[in-house]
Amino acid sequence: MEKTFLMVKPDGVQRNLIGDITARFERKGFKLAGAKLMAIPTELAEEHYGEHKEKPFFGELVDFITSGPVFAMVWEGEDVIATARTMMGATKPSEAAPGTIRGDYGVTVGKNVIHGSDSKESAEREIGLFFDEKELVDYEKDSLNWIY
Ligand code: PPS
Repeated sequence: MEKTFLMVKPDGVQRNLIGDITARFERKGFKLAGAKLMAIPTELAEEHYGEHKEKPFFGELVDFITSGPVFAMVWEGEDVIATARTMMGATKPSEAAPGTIRGDYGVTVGKNVIHGSDSKESAEREIGLFFDEKELVDYEKDSLNWIY
């Protein structure tokens, strides 16, 4: 089964959206493999967003993601990387469809509530950056028999 890295950003934590966001992925039928509330050190933020180093908004991105706690998660399931991105909605909230997380809660591109890996490679990299192997839990869930 595929795994992805998702993170409720500081604005989502402050706006009490952790419960709503995790509920969406649970109800969809994905399985939570790991989760933690954490403050991101600047060095980790810079590494996580390393591919955007040259972008004009890089400093703003790092400042924002380190401005308060985030809720980091690993979710598991069939096509979970692409499906989670669809459930998140477009990066720009003005383009995110109603019913998606950003479509329902985001107003600006900077404070857009959630981050999600955009490919298998970035999912592997981001899970490795944020979680130790021993923090991820492998377990059976009977309800999955009604999903697959
Ligand atoms: S790009 O330029 O297409 O590669 O950028 P994109 O993949 O859409 O976005 C990368 C992350 O940067 C955030 N972003 C911004 N933050 C602040 N200001 C501006 N203008 C801005 N544009 C993009 C965007 O939310 C992405 O964050 P994550 O956490 O990956 O969703």
